[in-house]
Amino acid sequence: MTNLRVLLSAAQIQARVREMGAEIDRDYPAGDLHLICILKGACFFLADLSRAICRDVLVDFMGISSYGKGQTTSGEVKVTKDLDISVEGADLLVVEDIVDSGVTLTYLVHVLEQRKPRSVRIAALLDKPDRRQRPVEVSYVGFRIADEFVVGYGLDYAERYRNLPDICVLANP
Ligand code: IMP
Ligand code: MG
Repeated sequence: MTNLRVLLSAAQIQARVREMGAEIDRDYPAGDLHLICILKGACFFLADLSRAICRDVLVDFMGISSYGKGQTTSGEVKVTKDLDISVEGADLLVVEDIVDSGVTLTYLVHVLEQRKPRSVRIAALLDKPDRRQRPVEVSYVGFRIADEFVVGYGLDYAERYRNLPDICVLANP
């Protein structure tokens, strides 16, 4: 039977996202700041994080698929939807739901750096450091969590559970 256990409540998430927004506000110099949301999981985080940032930002979306089903990544990554806005000379903040193996973000940062931005940093709501296969520098981390599969607040299992307001551990999917 599918079993959901709340790991991070909606209230905890909102409080932490507000702190992250304030930190980003403090850190960035003047100039264009692009928030690059990785579809689909990060949409919910982007919606809240962007509104916790007071300065002007541009919002863009990128689709990435890492070939692989279920709960693990296969190591191969492809861009399925590219950005609409040019990033040359801009500060880029990649907004991601969770850093797991680090394969997706290593690839993505490499792709973005070739487009001559001023800087590229990562904001991830969740980090599972125990699962890392590639080193990734994540500048803004919401919560470090243990190696458990989580769903909700954008995160899915086989495209389900994204709309849960809390982040929950999924047992026996
Ligand atoms: P990475 O390339 O292994 O770091 O994969 C990151 C992607 O894997 C995330 O953007 C998620 O789509 C997915 N992912 C990793 N861990 C989880 C999880 O616990 N729940 C839901 N999706 C996950
Ligand atoms: Mg994702």
